[in-house]
Amino acid sequence: MRSQAIGALFVCLGNICRSPAAEAAFRFAVRQRGWQSRFRIDSCGTSGYHDGEAAHSVTRRVGKEFGLQVDSISRRLQARDFAEFDYLLAMDSSNYQELCRRAPDDAARQKVLMFRRFDPQWSGHGNPPDVPDPYYGGREGFVEVQQIALRSSEALLDWLAETHQL
Ligand code: 4NP
Repeated sequence: MRSQAIGALFVCLGNICRSPAAEAAFRFAVRQRGWQSRFRIDSCGTSGYHDGEAAHSVTRRVGKEFGLQVDSISRRLQARDFAEFDYLLAMDSSNYQELCRRAPDDAARQKVLMFRRFDPQWSGHGNPPDVPDPYYGGREGFVEVQQIALRSSEALLDWLAETHQL
């Protein structure tokens, strides 16, 4: 077995809506398989707009309805995240571009992946879609984000299990 935990960092803009939902969904999937010790899981934002804040109240409420505990505290992406994590999962193409721009070298850039490339509902044509930003809309947007996060996390974990032979 791999001696070091596999690091997965979920990244959006504010780290209060989408990446906390994805982090909670991925933690849930990992816990269901009893693989907590094999993973290091966190989330962050490309901005520091909401530094130190709990996730959005609707993100937390909707998460709870899906049986998830969304308890992340917002923080900004740091240079050392590129060394400390194996995969940086971008919630949308603007996060993806920002991550690639801030990656210190090619090896770090290769750790950056669009989260929805794992979405089983993505057609597989063209570029993977964004996780739509629910921040300026109603509750339905937050529900959609949580559904995307749950199914994409499950598939991401399947892919990691195969890649790392867990
Ligand atoms: P998130 O959503 O990136 O999914 O956390 C947003 C949160 C805050 C802002 C934008 C998007 N904002 O502009 O403050």
